[in-house]
Amino acid sequence: VSALPLDGTPEPAAPVAVEVGGVRAVAWTDADGRRRVARDVCPHRRAPLSAGTVVDGHLTCAYHGWSFDGSGTCRALPAIGPEGRIPGRARLDMLDAADALATLAPAAPVGDCSPIPASSADWLDADTPGLGRFWHPVARRDEVGTDGTVEVELLGERWLVDTPAASATALRSSGGRRAWGVAQHLDHVWVAPEEPLAPLPPVDEWGGEGWHHRTMHRAEGRFGPGLLVDNQLDAAHFPFLHAETFGNPSGAVLPPAEVERGAATVISTMRVAITAANDHRAAPGERTAQAHRTMRYRWEAPLWLYLRLDYEEMGGSTVILFSVTPLAPGRARMDVDLLFSHPHGFTEAELDDRVAFEHQVVGEDLGLQARFEDLRLPLDPTLELHTRADRLSVTVRQVLRGLLSEDPAES
Ligand code: FES
Ligand SMILES: [Fe+2]
Repeated sequence: VSALPLDGTPEPAAPVAVEVGGVRAVAWTDADGRRRVARDVCPHRRAPLSAGTVVDGHLTCAYHGWSFDGSGTCRALPAIGPEGRIPGRARLDMLDAADALATLAPAAPVGDCSPIPASSADWLDADTPGLGRFWHPVARRDEVGTDGTVEVELLGERWLVDTPAASATALRSSGGRRAWGVAQHLDHVWVAPEEPLAPLPPVDEWGGEGWHHRTMHRAEGRFGPGLLVDNQLDAAHFPFLHAETFGNPSGAVLPPAEVERGAATVISTMRVAITAANDHRAAPGERTAQAHRTMRYRWEAPLWLYLRLDYEEMGGSTVILFSVTPLAPGRARMDVDLLFSHPHGFTEAELDDRVAFEHQVVGEDLGLQARFEDLRLPLDPTLELHTRADRLSVTVRQVLRGLLSEDPAES
């Protein structure tokens, strides 16, 4: 246990992750110079508060900028605007700093914590019952060997996928049982362990005239599959987590979004203010500080997301396809496909630039994702705190929870 700059030393610039009697906690110094300790989990979307900042003694969450005073009361909730009413439940779980001091120790890296198994449809991870009844992207097409086979990981099992067989098969490592189906669709090989509740997701722009396809580096490792998708369908984090790339502070108050709910999909459209750092037609000094994009989200159960961005000032459109694979509890993969279109077309260098930009943006997301302690996505609405800015993510949780708890005998 090494000494921490907590007692009598100047206020640390950043909150400190500590462990108090086996509980992960965050310590900071409030506006009165008093040391404060709280559980290291934000009441909103459970992000680690130790990844945040201390602004005027208020502990500010890195994800959506909720800000808490020394008593743990939320004082700012940017997405609902200054007139919005902050819910009374927006409070930190405070620990007694004096008591805590005796046992305060630097927290181990989150990777050392063992994930808690998801045992019911209240939480989503790779062992949540019901996930077998969907199509899952398991490999990119170019990963299939010359003999047509590829070995993949899905839902805690290894599978041997044989694609060119008269009827393609996927055999699970445990007992050699056969999956319901194998498909090649978009840039991926998909497996449905059991009869799927939803079809493969369509993408109209795929292969379309004027659309350029690029792929991003794969993210794979200690990630929560549901958290990864939830992150990508959330627009309220842009001004905070993406302040370095396109997040515009004037976009903090989210406009009301239309949310359209289907049997296994949710669609939402909104228009947000951005900074156009990725306007490849303008020199850096000439880029519009105020720009807008219309965003059309289409989530498809269980873990796939289509996002279309139409740029008003810059022109052109980008389609981003997020394909998340639940490999095993506490382990997930995200493959991202990018489709770009612009009335003036692109040079190769411009396309490379755009890919690099999107890569930087997703890197900002993954940096925080890697710091979550509990990798499960809560599906029970009481496990998090929602505001009107969270309509899309709440609706996705509701649809997913309903599908996962459906009785197979009745479908
Ligand atoms: S503000 Fe902390 S998770 Fe959203
Ligand atoms: Fe993001």
